[in-house]
Amino acid sequence: MKVLIVGKGGREHALAWKSRKSSLVSEVFVAPGNAGMKNDATLVGISETDPIALADFAEREGIELTIIGPEASLVAGVADEFKKRNLLVWGPDKAAAQIEGSKDFSKQMMVKYNAPTAHSESFTVSQKAKDYIKEIGLPIVIKADGLAAGKGVVIPETMEEAFATVDDMLEGNKFGEAGACILVEEMLVGEEFSLMCFVHQGVVIPMVMAQDHKRAYDNDEGPNTGGMGAYAPIFDAQSEEVQTAVTTIMQPIVDGLTQEGMPYTGFLYGGLFLTKDGFKVIEFNARFGDPEAQIILPLLETDFIEIIYNFLTNKALPVIKWSKKFAIGVVLASEGYPDSPQTGYPLNTPTFNDEDELIFYAGVKDQGNSLVSDGGRILLNVAIADDFKTAYDKAYANMKQLAVPHTFFRSDIGHKQFNR
Ligand code: AMP
Ligand code: GLY
Repeated sequence: MKVLIVGKGGREHALAWKSRKSSLVSEVFVAPGNAGMKNDATLVGISETDPIALADFAEREGIELTIIGPEASLVAGVADEFKKRNLLVWGPDKAAAQIEGSKDFSKQMMVKYNAPTAHSESFTVSQKAKDYIKEIGLPIVIKADGLAAGKGVVIPETMEEAFATVDDMLEGNKFGEAGACILVEEMLVGEEFSLMCFVHQGVVIPMVMAQDHKRAYDNDEGPNTGGMGAYAPIFDAQSEEVQTAVTTIMQPIVDGLTQEGMPYTGFLYGGLFLTKDGFKVIEFNARFGDPEAQIILPLLETDFIEIIYNFLTNKALPVIKWSKKFAIGVVLASEGYPDSPQTGYPLNTPTFNDEDELIFYAGVKDQGNSLVSDGGRILLNVAIADDFKTAYDKAYANMKQLAVPHTFFRSDIGHKQFNR
């Protein structure tokens, strides 16, 4: 079958790469994709937020399965348009995607359906938010309700910074509509993990648990980013930890969405903290994580497209098998990321073996015959091995070939694994 991936980042490169390896797939298209994906897919010049043009293309080209990558496409209603036309699509519709699109909605769902989470209060009036912050004191986390590309979360160090953040969001219109409502949340203490699940018709199938690194610099310093590197597995898909997180957090929310008349289909991502009281969820994403997809998908041994296709067409699911290996990925980012990435610089594009040494491209474009940087996160360099240390060493050895002027990367991805 012909498969269409919607999106243009590293996650979509990994989705295209994995789809290409399926025995069920004849051709993979990516809309709009990026110049670094050309060996894995045919690029289609349609925006990922144009539901009509994407569905027109799918009809014209005879696409049998479409997988949506980014939240922007979900919130723009790409899945709704495909479903309206009876086109097979993997990804939640607009209503269910609110679980990511609105942190206020998401928090209400967590509370109503008893998924353990950080306590929080929502505000639209800045004075009320400040009074509440004065009452509870620091530490707290302040979040814009809507999508803000990973930048709508602030952990203020002083009361002044807390008040300024409230004003920026509610009065200063810093995030536009996304900041018209804010959440003031209890700060959780513990280690952070990412759990991705396949979800359809109330069935939740977890993947291996991963860990991302959100801060820009080593030792978890600097501003929050989309993610600077990740590794997996921390816990196997069958482990007690993963099963507990599914039972107490993922399944109740999936069931809750069904009860609210918004049944969920697609990847569901739980951002989890392992606290002294067990797993708590701080956010849901209505999609695969990026860079989590790039390290989790290479560990999946079962035919990826068969899982999704069978799910959507109500056929029996294959037994889902995971490799026993470890995968680690290190992001190469543009200097200045996340605030003001400097782009347009030439890149090194070595060819790795495409089995246990991989590159997934994100912010790149063609210039003449070579690739130049074209975004905050340029690429993810992935290495896979039987043990974590070998994977780690291989990833950082390859990083030496990829690091070029005007780029940077974290040198401590996966360090916590050495102490596990
Ligand atoms: P989010 O956009 O909700 O994923 O938040 C971005 C990052 O901020 C998370 O990955 C956490 O590292 C941090 N964060 C968010 N909420 C909390 C919280 N309640 N307690 C501690 N850290 C948090
Ligand atoms: N890596 C975090 C995210 O995709 O939101």
